[in-house]
Amino acid sequence: MTDKESPYRVRDSLNRLQAYEPGKPMEEIQAKYNLDELPVKLASNENPYSPPAQLKNIYEQEFSKLNRYPDGGCFYLREALADKYDWPAEGIVVGAGSDEILDCLAKATLEPGLEIVCGDPSFVIYQMDALMMGAEPKPVPVDDNFDLNLEAMLKQIGPQTRWVCIPNPNNPTSRYLSKQEFKEFYERLPGHCLLLIDEAYFELMTQPDYPNGIDFLKTRNAGQAGVVVLRTFSKAYALPGLRVGYGLMEPELASELHKVRPPFNVNRPAQALAKAALNEAEFLETSRKKIISERERLLKEFDRRQINYVPPSANFILVEAPGDFTGEQLFEDLLPEGVIVRSMAPYGLKNHFRLTVGRREENDQFLAALDQVCGF
Ligand SMILES: Cc1ncc(COP(=O)(O)O)c(C=O)c1O
Repeated sequence: MTDKESPYRVRDSLNRLQAYEPGKPMEEIQAKYNLDELPVKLASNENPYSPPAQLKNIYEQEFSKLNRYPDGGCFYLREALADKYDWPAEGIVVGAGSDEILDCLAKATLEPGLEIVCGDPSFVIYQMDALMMGAEPKPVPVDDNFDLNLEAMLKQIGPQTRWVCIPNPNNPTSRYLSKQEFKEFYERLPGHCLLLIDEAYFELMTQPDYPNGIDFLKTRNAGQAGVVVLRTFSKAYALPGLRVGYGLMEPELASELHKVRPPFNVNRPAQALAKAALNEAEFLETSRKKIISERERLLKEFDRRQINYVPPSANFILVEAPGDFTGEQLFEDLLPEGVIVRSMAPYGLKNHFRLTVGRREENDQFLAALDQVCGF
């Protein structure tokens, strides 16, 4: 909306922004392709296992309280997180997904004239938030191994750079930075930047050299780049339907985020279940094991079919579409077989698709569909 006279005009910054394109509801896909069952969704990097059954009681208890607003301060959840991480509750902000923490950070810290440095391809929300605020995204292409190109990212940083965005692992590449790489990178960042360490998949990572971003927050010296660590209940904890994520940061910055955070942004069941989920270590352990073993099985199946992929670290794999297929074409052709993957065309990778590791039977359905469509 650019007409300056229109009552519906919006800020100029929005002209460069495109709305996030949601996938079609599974029921619509089932109806469109006349499928006997709901399609298998391997497109959103979710935990394929339902949340721990013990949480159901808590969910039901919350029902009778829905006539009351939730606690606008997420008091008990923040206390529980503060205990878990040994970090002051005043330095923890909870949001409707870690997406909302990014949104609050953008509102609090970005404006026209400022820049953000991020990878390309990488999680799309960083660039969207920058554009929303009229700031300039500086995306830096990943290297030939699909790793974040840290040297090139450092070169892009200038006096106007406000955010440096490091998802560890990166989405959609599933590549991660080791402790050593991370430490060296952090030490070279200028002090005026804010390093966003996005650890959405933290609880799924088992690599011995995988760093914990909270260590950088805790050991930061005066004059070094600021640190914000983002975590979520959407992935390993299997609760994306509730929308709960959080950011750990200096209390000084958190108090600014509270100014732009909607007062009751995290609903009642979400707060209660997220707090209870923190005790579900066994669920995390068993689902992580199953996901990793299925991931390794999928890689062997790709090898057997001579399909190339980027060696993954989390619960999703960036795969090269075989033969003459583009990623988009393969995505389209898998739909009638009842399988949803994510085309990487919107990320500028036209030959790739992203596959989330599912349950064994879901992965089998994907492999059968792939064979059917590609003629393996
Ligand atoms: C790297 C990364 N960060 C953040 C998120 C968003 O998570 P949430 O559901 O907490 O908003 C995702 C989700 O796919 C992600 O891949």
